[in-house]
Amino acid sequence: MSTKLSVNINKIATLRNSRGGQKPDVLQAAIDCQLFGADGITVHPRPDERHIRYSDVRAIAPIINTEFNIEGNPKEDKFVDLVLEVKPHQVTLVPDAIGQLTSNHGWDVIKHQEYLVKTVALFQKHQIRVSVFVDPDSYMAAAAADTGTDRIELYTEAYAKHYPQDRMKAIKPYVDAAQAAMYKGLDINAGHDLDLDNLRFFASQIPQLKEVSIGHALISDALYYGLENTIQLYKRQLQ
Ligand code: PXP
Repeated sequence: MSTKLSVNINKIATLRNSRGGQKPDVLQAAIDCQLFGADGITVHPRPDERHIRYSDVRAIAPIINTEFNIEGNPKEDKFVDLVLEVKPHQVTLVPDAIGQLTSNHGWDVIKHQEYLVKTVALFQKHQIRVSVFVDPDSYMAAAAADTGTDRIELYTEAYAKHYPQDRMKAIKPYVDAAQAAMYKGLDINAGHDLDLDNLRFFASQIPQLKEVSIGHALISDALYYGLENTIQLYKRQLQ
């Protein structure tokens, strides 16, 4: 089975928020992404709602006919309440600080193990699949299994950064981390800075990759190629 493409639509909300009106229409964008072939929709509500708003997440939930993935920091009670109310297919736990530009590190799953065990169990009790965001570190990837999580999401910023110089070197820690996690029975997602240049190689080296979530590059490419073509171009990289 090929890797699923979940389109992160935060950037569309960011553009809308820059003018204060309703353009571009975030709900319509979610509908269209699915129509154009996305296998899922990802949103990442942050406490200051500067990107996607909590009200957007509530409005989008009923129109999802693919897979809904909500990312965020569960240390925010507001986030936990939202996820339990909306009941997406998957919640991705990300340790980002308030006001952080974008996610920039994975969990230390050992230091936060007790907290993560409790949090993962809470979401799973509500039939929500859990994915924990981790750096490409075999030790952390394997230890993530001790939190009870279903999946890990590998933070691909370093891969994307080093891919142009030496793609074999760039992918190595990811292949190792994915193997360590799979050995412990975890499924693998990935995301951050994946784009039309680096995506195919990443997916080819980690054939068990279940899902990628892509926002910034995909929405930027859509300015040139249109949203429908762009989604199809990304999907082709995953075949
Ligand atoms: N995964 C996580 C946990 C993220 O925080 C983000 C950015 O919101 C992404 C994936 C998508 O990254 P990008 O926008 O660079 O495609």
